[in-house]
Amino acid sequence: MENVNQAEFWQQRYEQDSIGWDMGQVSPPLKAYIDQLPESAKDQAILVPGAGNAYEVGYLHEQGFTNVTLVDFAPAPIQAFAERYPDFPAEQLICSDFFNLSPEQYQFDWVLEQTFFCAINPARRDEYIQHMATLLKAKGKLVGLLFDKDFGRQEPPFGGTKEEYQQRFATHFDIEIMEPCYNSHPARQGSELFIKMHVKQ
Ligand SMILES: C[S@@+](CC[C@H](N)C(=O)[O-])C[C@H]1O[C@@H](n2cnc3c(N)ncnc32)[C@H](O)[C@@H]1O
Repeated sequence: MENVNQAEFWQQRYEQDSIGWDMGQVSPPLKAYIDQLPESAKDQAILVPGAGNAYEVGYLHEQGFTNVTLVDFAPAPIQAFAERYPDFPAEQLICSDFFNLSPEQYQFDWVLEQTFFCAINPARRDEYIQHMATLLKAKGKLVGLLFDKDFGRQEPPFGGTKEEYQQRFATHFDIEIMEPCYNSHPARQGSELFIKMHVKQ
């Protein structure tokens, strides 16, 4: 399981086209969330960590969101994204380990979580939560999806339960929504929680 901490593990999965998690489209609940945001949100600083082929980043860009940062430590999906979106600002495409992002350099209004939490080693969950909180501005929020299902601990995705997430995230976040998702992609019906939580002041 240690290898999920390494960019090479994921890069190889992209090179071998062994990317079962990739929906090939913007996740429907996240599209619905983005669609109800007001015009005034379009210049907010948004982070999409572990973005992979980054359909959500592409969609945000197409909808006129100007300050979206894509982070992934595997170069292959970033390269592919840059080819699909040649007008996307290159400085907002960051090939880096999420855990190395410096809060002094990066501060976001909100973060979009989409199959990144489930990709990291479960032993690093508290580290993810703590680091995520440091990357958010005061009143910043974490929005997205978490698996509401256990897939075992052999290989990603690493799932979990609402109870576990509530307990862990409550250390750094006030949870506004953590509820079964009603508009998941058909392949993920009944296995996702929609989350919206605010970093504690
Ligand atoms: C399961 S994939 C999900 C990709 C994308 N969010 C999607 O839904 O298609 C997990 C992604 O997180 C990236 N990743 C895993 N650990 C990372 C880390 N510590 N820092 C940055 N990216 C990471 C992997 O390279 C991979 O692209």
